[in-house]
Amino acid sequence: MAAVESLSIHDSLKTGVAKEHEEAENGIFTQSIMKGTVTPAIYRQFLAELYEIYKAIEEAAELNKEHETFGMTHFPTEFNRVGAIEKDLEYYYGANWKEEAKSQAPTTTKYVARIKEVGKTNPTLLIAHCYVRYLGDMSGGRQIKYKLMKHFNLGSSDDGIAFFVFDQIDNVAHFKEYYFGRMNSINIDDDQLAELVAEAKKAFQFNIDLFKDMNDFVQKMKLPQENISSDPSKMETFYNHFKSLFSSS
Ligand code: HEM
Repeated sequence: MAAVESLSIHDSLKTGVAKEHEEAENGIFTQSIMKGTVTPAIYRQFLAELYEIYKAIEEAAELNKEHETFGMTHFPTEFNRVGAIEKDLEYYYGANWKEEAKSQAPTTTKYVARIKEVGKTNPTLLIAHCYVRYLGDMSGGRQIKYKLMKHFNLGSSDDGIAFFVFDQIDNVAHFKEYYFGRMNSINIDDDQLAELVAEAKKAFQFNIDLFKDMNDFVQKMKLPQENISSDPSKMETFYNHFKSLFSSS
């Protein structure tokens, strides 16, 4: 009987999350970005959510940089997004972004708590969180970047799209190949691999739920989206309404 070839860590992750990737890709919020119906007012709130999530990932990653498995896939110079998100928040909110950009989505709180928990109790699982976010940003994120540039009429600089610019990586395809090679060289057993795949599915589910929060927020607003971005007073109404939606739930 022929021996059954076991999948590499990367192939296990990729096939393990295929269904969730499709769901994330086809969600209403993702599609609203791709179709250009998302406004700067909505996108900046989304960035405020991502800010908390990436701060949690990057803090947990830094704490575990010497960890025997996670440390093998730790590429802070190439990956880190917090600085880029700060640049984008300043672009969309202005100089007072630190006071104005506040996470409000219930999913963000749960997602951040989970990242912190695995950072403390099982750092190998941080590999799944980094894979889902950074590799996604490098892959489909490139298409999202071009859509935003077109729909928000952004110039050719990084203004408003710094989040998607990995300026420490010369060739994304080569980097991905190198990264997956490092991932595949990690020594974990079948149970740990199963746990890693389950964590990647969980990370995808947090992202899908966050998109749902964002979509609920747009739906409950019942304001014509086109008017929000061009009128600062509506932007304020939009933000306050978002706050009240989630503080009452
Ligand atoms: C419009 C939305 C999206 C599009 C068009 C898209 C598209 C793609 C494409 C074309 C690839 C394959 C790239 C390659 O083979 O080099 C990819 C990979 C990936 N995407 Fe997405 N994606 C989207 C949303 C997302 C979201 C929301 C996430 C997670 C939050 C995500 C996570 C990933 C990951 C982790 C990979 C790496 C797969 C691997 O090679 O192992 N994607 N995406």
